Amino acid sequence: MWKQSYEQLIFLQDSSVGLKAIIAIHSTKLGPALGGCRMRQYGSDEEAIDDALRLAKGMTYKSAMSGIPYGGGKAVILSHPGQGPREALFQALGRQLQKMQGGYITGMDLGTSVTDMDWIRLQTPYVTDTSGSLGAVNDLTATMTAYGVFLGILTALKRVFGSGSAERRTVAVQGLGKVGYQLCRYLYYAGAKLIVADVDPVRVQKVVSEFGAIPKHPDAIMSEPCDVLSPCALGGILNDRSISGLHCRIVAGAANNQLTESRHGALLHDRGILYAPDYVINSGGIIVTAAELNGGDAATAQQNVEKISGTLTDVFQTADARGLPTADAADLMAEGLLGI
Ligand code: NAI
Repeated sequence: MWKQSYEQLIFLQDSSVGLKAIIAIHSTKLGPALGGCRMRQYGSDEEAIDDALRLAKGMTYKSAMSGIPYGGGKAVILSHPGQGPREALFQALGRQLQKMQGGYITGMDLGTSVTDMDWIRLQTPYVTDTSGSLGAVNDLTATMTAYGVFLGILTALKRVFGSGSAERRTVAVQGLGKVGYQLCRYLYYAGAKLIVADVDPVRVQKVVSEFGAIPKHPDAIMSEPCDVLSPCALGGILNDRSISGLHCRIVAGAANNQLTESRHGALLHDRGILYAPDYVINSGGIIVTAAELNGGDAATAQQNVEKISGTLTDVFQTADARGLPTADAADLMAEGLLGI
């Protein structure tokens, strides 16, 4: 259902430092493109381009639905043998951002750190999540992302069970990194029973001992019987096979691009599983970034994150009124805001 149009796709090669990167700008219609910089190994250049394109588009829809005056973009650095030291790579990326004069503002994402953002900052002001910034202090970005997902879960519980309480509800959390851990904390204090999985046993042990979570094998978490499945690890995990094996009433998590293809939203709908669209409920981080760029503080950011409940309720109502899967309803609403 997403319409395929992009403003810019930049292939950046700097052989002096071995940098190979892609910057995708989906839209600057509502403001400068905002979206983090990811660094990882890809199976092919095509896979990296696809990742950048999908993520950039997701950022446009996420910003639109959060009501912040920004568009969507994403940078992807391809890890490969023979690349130069990180400092050189990120400074080279910074030089490119400086050339773009604020059309794209980057920040942290999978595989990048505050230190990397500090390297970019040496070349350009168009970067967030640097040392001492609002998002970096106490990892506010991840905490607010988790808070938004938590509120999304409560909103979905209300829709399905008539009560927006997590008390005694079972939530299966896949991925216990920065966001997954904080989400477990919110859910634990709200009285939920937690089932968890991560490929890192140390992270699993932490939530087992702190929150009494029940650990499961990473391969088994998706099909665990539960009220809510919360994907907080990787994107693309909802596909024909995984959806047919789900034993949950709700899917609501932080991972970007959870649906492998947009038709998988319809598949969830047909199975009677309520899907809280990822970009509607995982916008806490980008809301913090927007606050940072506009001189706001943590309290302002939190107030804006709290609007996620109302936005998600609107998505559910639009889906009902139009007879659409929630994923399509969210796309329709975002496209209405973007005028496309
Ligand atoms: P993270 O890298 O801190 O945590 C990811 C966790 O998933 C790690 O603990 C990793 O070991 C685990 N994992 C990887 N593969 C797994 C598998 N097959 N099964 C179970 N666990 C697995 O990342 P973070 O920041 O917590 O983000 C989680 C997700 O939320 C990512 O998809 C990210 O793109 C998305 N997101 C994060 C935001 C943020 O503010 N950090 C904002 C919006 C989305």
